[in-house]
Amino acid sequence: MVELKTYTREEVSRHAAEEDIWIIIDTDVYNMSVFIDMHPGGAFPILEYAGKDATEAFYGLHRQEVLLKYKRYKIGTLADETPQIKIRQHGDNSTVPYAEMSAFMGYKSPYYNDSHFRYQAALRKICDELKAEAQECDSAGDRPSDEFVKKLAAHHLLAAHVGPGPWLHGLMLPGNVPGTEFDYFHDMITHQEFARWGAPGLVAGITGGMTISLPTVLNYGKPELKAELVPLLLSGEKRMSLAITEPYTGSDVASIRTVAKKVEGGYVVNGVKKWITTGRFAHYFATAVRTEKGISMLLIERQEGVETKPIKTSYSQSAGTAYVTFENVFVPDANLLGIEHQGFRVVLSNFNHERFMLIAQPVAVSRNAVEECFKWAMQRKVFGKPLIDQPVIRNKLAKMIAGVESCQTWTENIAYQMNHMKYAEQADKLAGPIALLKFHATRMMHDVSDEACQIFGGRALTKTGMGKYIEDLQRTYKFNAILGGSEEIMADLGVRQAMKKFPADARL
Ligand SMILES: Cc1cc2nc3c(=O)[nH]c(=O)nc-3n(C[C@H](O)[C@H](O)[C@H](O)COP(=O)(O)OP(=O)(O)OC[C@H]3O[C@@H](n4cnc5c(N)ncnc54)[C@H](O)[C@@H]3O)c2cc1C
Ligand code: HEM
Repeated sequence: MVELKTYTREEVSRHAAEEDIWIIIDTDVYNMSVFIDMHPGGAFPILEYAGKDATEAFYGLHRQEVLLKYKRYKIGTLADETPQIKIRQHGDNSTVPYAEMSAFMGYKSPYYNDSHFRYQAALRKICDELKAEAQECDSAGDRPSDEFVKKLAAHHLLAAHVGPGPWLHGLMLPGNVPGTEFDYFHDMITHQEFARWGAPGLVAGITGGMTISLPTVLNYGKPELKAELVPLLLSGEKRMSLAITEPYTGSDVASIRTVAKKVEGGYVVNGVKKWITTGRFAHYFATAVRTEKGISMLLIERQEGVETKPIKTSYSQSAGTAYVTFENVFVPDANLLGIEHQGFRVVLSNFNHERFMLIAQPVAVSRNAVEECFKWAMQRKVFGKPLIDQPVIRNKLAKMIAGVESCQTWTENIAYQMNHMKYAEQADKLAGPIALLKFHATRMMHDVSDEACQIFGGRALTKTGMGKYIEDLQRTYKFNAILGGSEEIMADLGVRQAMKKFPADARL
């Protein structure tokens, strides 16, 4: 390890030859003599700054994280000079306007208490520490490793993904938040912090098991089944997925064709399921099947006759998206979830919460895009001045900020309602607003993605470097507009729910 020293600008300027080349970035001094031949941008641009201050040129072309990755080339700092640029540390909240929820930037809010602030601070740090591993897994398309999943389980973050409920009681969540205090604001924070990883495939691989499928067992499984499975799933030892959609039918859930024939002691299942998140590596499948008098839900264990094949999508294979076939699979009566022929209720029961997650994520990803674009527009120089000096660019940022803030505020309103309503009231009053907000949030994300792409230019289409989060957003933003109820279905459901409550005596 190099011993860091202090230098004067004059001393640095004496190291300006190709074989002995130092540069200054902010108040740090880097020795580029060895790195120059390996520099991805080539030797020429560095030579131009030999012995000089390269701060502005550097930040026009690199993300800050490059400096952390290559910190081994730092040899010291400038004597008696104060750094002008803050290097973000793990756990730091941003100070860029609109880069965090307003309550977390010093604005007043009726919603958040000390435990929300503690939870967010602790979770930001945990997620930052795991971010590099998460991004690596996501770009490689790997199955999230057992070690990685167990790290999340150790902080009870698999359980947190299920949302508030008795499964959290007795647990201490990050920020010393007792599971009994965990509410829908903590829940929203969970999904937003994980969404900031910029690894949407990997996140889906985790939430597919926890947020959308485990509730079927927790809420409708027989006590013995729960006692056996839940500890295995919450500790990350086993994984599960929700298998409803088929090649023949998606939005129209009632038309599924997978059949479960009643036999002595159980059912024999035949059929196919498509796009099953986590399916590639799931041990269990909460599966919607057609039984004699309706739809039923069965918990099917991976066994002979169950086959999963990966489906390549525009996000990472870490999501485990799979085509699942069941061929003469025996499922014991003990694995029936809920009441026979009334499985539709099980299917519908978790939709509000699943959609709440699918709203929180785009708001966070879009907010991240606001921060990326704001920073980029301030530091990128075009036609001799920062991009932000162009009114057209400021207008794009304005649209992005307004979209994010309006969706965030509505999400907080919904979280508040969920905290104060029992399940039946939520089902009655919130299905419509949640559907409309999901529709609104994914439309907002569409606009944010488009504007962010134009602000970043070519870098928005480049998988590494300055625009990598915007490239990821461009490629993956459509997922939340389709999963868990597509935009068209959400908009329609929202208005139909409102029509049901339309007063018979109302006239213009
Ligand atoms: C990556 C990925 C992961 C998924 N994970 C899971 C999972 O884990 N488990 C699971 O069960 N399913 C999963 N799904 C399936 C997902 O829920 C469905 O794709 C979704 O419900 C839409 O169904 P569909 O794709 O068959 O579209 P279709 O139902 O065929 O609809 C096609 C298009 O027509 C529109 N449309 C349909 N009906 C109407 C209407 N009445 N009015 C106006 N427009 C309409 C829809 O909005 C859609 O855009 C996943 C899908 C994807 C792509
Ligand atoms: C500590 C010093 C530096 C390090 C560690 C470093 C590292 C890197 C890395 C990792 C990349 C690839 C980024 C990507 O994924 O797109 C890169 C690209 C580049 N670097 Fe550097 N660099 C340094 C200093 C400089 C300096 C001083 C200049 C001079 C202006 C420079 C000019 C460039 C250019 C032109 C590119 C290509 C950018 C693009 O394709 O958009 N680098 N550098």
